[in-house]
Amino acid sequence: MTMVGTHPLLLALVVLSLGVTLAAIGQAHPVALTWLGAIAAVGAVARVVLILDRRRGAPRSIDHAALRRIDFSGRKAWLKEQVRGQDAAVGTVVDTLQRGLQLAQSGRSLGSFLLVGPTGTGKTFLATAVAHALWPQREPVVLNMNQYKSPADVSAFMGSPGADGPATEGTLTGAIAADPRRVVVLDEIDKCHPDVLHALLDALDGGRCRDKATGKTADFSACVFFATCNAGVEGLRTLADAEPKAYVAAARDVLSREAGFEKSFLARFSEIVLMDSLRPIHIAEIACLLIEKQWGDAGIQVDYLAPELLAEIVKSNEEFSQYGVRQLAHCVRRMTDGMLDTARRTGLRRVDLGLGPAAKAALLRAKSSGSAAAP
Ligand SMILES: Nc1ncnc2c1ncn2[C@@H]1O[C@H](COP(=O)(O)OP(=O)(O)O)[C@@H](O)[C@H]1O
Ligand SMILES: [Mg+2]
Repeated sequence: MTMVGTHPLLLALVVLSLGVTLAAIGQAHPVALTWLGAIAAVGAVARVVLILDRRRGAPRSIDHAALRRIDFSGRKAWLKEQVRGQDAAVGTVVDTLQRGLQLAQSGRSLGSFLLVGPTGTGKTFLATAVAHALWPQREPVVLNMNQYKSPADVSAFMGSPGADGPATEGTLTGAIAADPRRVVVLDEIDKCHPDVLHALLDALDGGRCRDKATGKTADFSACVFFATCNAGVEGLRTLADAEPKAYVAAARDVLSREAGFEKSFLARFSEIVLMDSLRPIHIAEIACLLIEKQWGDAGIQVDYLAPELLAEIVKSNEEFSQYGVRQLAHCVRRMTDGMLDTARRTGLRRVDLGLGPAAKAALLRAKSSGSAAAP
């Protein structure tokens, strides 16, 4: 039984009830029975303390054997379908995570990945897609790290006992104490204060932390961590041909130099993964997915997209190339929204789309009935 963290009032209650029990038994029975009764009373009180202690702070138990039985490799193809043009990154993440699952145990996380790449290449998207593939019922914990810019922000993360105000549960410790099987996304980790990174070391190792507000323990041994970072891309590109064994040390050197991370922090990651700029063919593929989704949401199935239309969309995205594909949805909308509106109003259910005047989408063929996409 652990008494660590037990409230003083609870301890007083335990001692009091023990005394009352002993006195009552001592008065009513001979010596031998008194001792037996005392032992039983101590046992009963101990159980109550243990239960209350668990409710207050002990971590939710993790079934590591069940984690070791998960087959995640089968989700690789689905992930590659979602995250276009990043097959190598997806492969590394899935293989490493599968190994991590097979070794699931207390004191180590299932995997921790530092995703480095230019804006709009799918870093956050890959992390959340892995979360949906691994635990579809649990939303990932996404922490926007540029909110934690001062040393005092460690408490926002780990909980604050409320010396100068109300106690506040930590954004990280609170979420993991409530449900430890989570994917944690530390988004744009290069933007937070170094003290915050320091406070994260134990979590990344898969250790345990106690929330400073609630006293609940967060056990990180069923967590998968993704940290995303825009800095250090140029340096990592020069390592493209490095031997796999030499890559890890060289990547840490690059990131401590170019992104300012401490080596001890970088050593916490199972993998450092470069997600490089997307090529035009992948931008066209993502445009197809976006159009399929937007028209599908309106109950219209798109059977065919003319290459000229896709080429025009890719060209229009060039204007925003520094944002990767972040502005692609906007480009697609600008070119197809007028046509979508007409198609919806005329009750079309299935369409082929081509390129019309003024670089806008035009109807090539249309059907007003048939097995349309579900609205
Ligand atoms: N490789 C990709 N495959 C499919 N969609 C992508 C990809 N990269 C980005 N997107 C789309 O662009 C959006 C923004 O991407 P995001 O993951 O936030 O970029 P990053 O984190 O690299 O800056 C995503 O929500 C997704 O819709
Ligand atoms: Mg991002």
